[in-house]
Amino acid sequence: MSVVVVTGAGGMGLAVARRLGSGCTVLLADAFPASLERAINTMTAEGYDVRGHLTDVSDAAAVAGLAKAAADIGPIGAVVHTAGVSAATATIGQIMAVDLAGTAHVIDAFGEVATHGTSLVCVASMAGHYATLSPVQERALALTPSAELLGLPVVAAAGTPVGAYIVAKRANQVRVQAAALDWNRRGARINTISPGMIATAMSRAEADSGHDMMATLDACGIGRTGTPAEIAEAAAFLTGPASRYITGTDLLIDGGQAAWLRWHR
Ligand SMILES: NC(=O)c1ccc[n+]([C@@H]2O[C@H](COP(=O)([O-])OP(=O)(O)OC[C@H]3O[C@@H](n4cnc5c(N)ncnc54)[C@H](O)[C@@H]3O)[C@@H](O)[C@H]2O)c1
Repeated sequence: MSVVVVTGAGGMGLAVARRLGSGCTVLLADAFPASLERAINTMTAEGYDVRGHLTDVSDAAAVAGLAKAAADIGPIGAVVHTAGVSAATATIGQIMAVDLAGTAHVIDAFGEVATHGTSLVCVASMAGHYATLSPVQERALALTPSAELLGLPVVAAAGTPVGAYIVAKRANQVRVQAAALDWNRRGARINTISPGMIATAMSRAEADSGHDMMATLDACGIGRTGTPAEIAEAAAFLTGPASRYITGTDLLIDGGQAAWLRWHR
């Protein structure tokens, strides 16, 4: 039976696990035992075959252990990496360790066990689309070995959590592009999804920190936040048969905010 791996048992992770998990074995990973247990109990009660794997994605060895555990269960159909921290609640160091290095670890570890048909989706952010990095900085973020990423000058230069988040999320997008060659050679695919404001615990924390998220959403005409189910639907498309020619790219799901910012503000 095909295996679906989902990192992050939060708002998006649970929605993705539910959308992809029917008839598969779901391996759900999170760094926090209580979050993991709550999600496992919920999905088990709903009839899913779901297992938990306590994993801190900032730890390369732990992510390698997760990938091995998944491959030991069976052929890996889909991996959706949603584990992450936000600029509203995390420090610069945490953002770089989890959102930047953690995603690099997931790409590396699952690249080792990906087989024909495996599709990895990493959740980046619309914030990555707002990065103004030089070609040299982007190249370094795309191609530097994971163990050396945190030592890059562009990483050290991030002066605020928001700045760190933008760099980390842009890095997710360009690392996925750069990794597509290796994944193609395995018959496997790799993409990012870049969400705008999606109604989860993370965006609620951002709203609580004083960020008026509705102003931009109203101005761009959509007038609402996105739902975790809308991200899950995109993940289903990118891990399913209808997207077999789509790899090494990014799907921006932001209700039109980036388009509004570029052309109408
Ligand atoms: N919600 C939004 O508006 C929004 C917008 C853009 C991008 N994103 C991105 O989407 C992803 C999912 O966010 P969400 O909204 O579901 O948030 P969430 O807070 O609901 O879930 C995130 C999960 O990641 C887990 N986690 C945190 N650090 C971890 C670590 N080191 N190792 C393993 N697990 C860890 C948390 O315990 C939590 O369960 C994140 O990467 C986030 O940056 C979210």
